[in-house]
Amino acid sequence: MAAVAKERPKTPRARLFVALDLPDDLREEIVAWGREALVDPALRPVAPESLHVTLAFLGSRPEEEIEAIAAVVRERVGPAPWVELLDPEPRPPRGRARLYALPALSPGTEALRAGVAEGLEAEGFYEPEKRPFWPHVTVARVRPEGRGSRRPAVVSSPPGKVPESLSEARICRRMTLYRSVLQPTGARYVPLAQVQLPG
Ligand code: 2AM
Repeated sequence: MAAVAKERPKTPRARLFVALDLPDDLREEIVAWGREALVDPALRPVAPESLHVTLAFLGSRPEEEIEAIAAVVRERVGPAPWVELLDPEPRPPRGRARLYALPALSPGTEALRAGVAEGLEAEGFYEPEKRPFWPHVTVARVRPEGRGSRRPAVVSSPPGKVPESLSEARICRRMTLYRSVLQPTGARYVPLAQVQLPG
């Protein structure tokens, strides 16, 4: 009986992040390129609706904070940034890759990120990362080597360059607060709040 009395209901939590969404035409072009480029069986291409640039990863937060976090995201709206996507890079850069991402060249995204991160940090919802911000779009994750293994499989045919058209500057007009729901087949991202960016 004592054991039962000690049990406390856990506060429900959510894994949250704020992202810059890519325009639909750019997502479609990434998917079209990926059909030819992300063919290695060790690769799991990211679903089109999940292609984004993460601005701030908040980690696991109490669900009751979601409204206040969404309010900060709405307050920190900035001009819609232009983004240029570069050729795919493996991460980590050495050793076995865990993911492949297109780096995003975009001073406007850096500015938007700085504003959102500052607002979230001021309210105690976010701890800034020690590593520098690396704006990128993850296009594929590497499957584990075997069942239950945490080690990524070897990728024998890494993705090649992107076509020039894919690197043309594009404007991104939406910022979203997402909840990441972890599933055995990969994470599913659920939009919780969205804001249009002016410009
Ligand atoms: P990734 O694509 O480089 O893995 C949802 O998981 C989003 O948040 C992804 O874009 C992911 O980046 C990013 N993310 C996940 N864990 C993170 C962490 N510990 N620090 C920063 N970003 C993270």
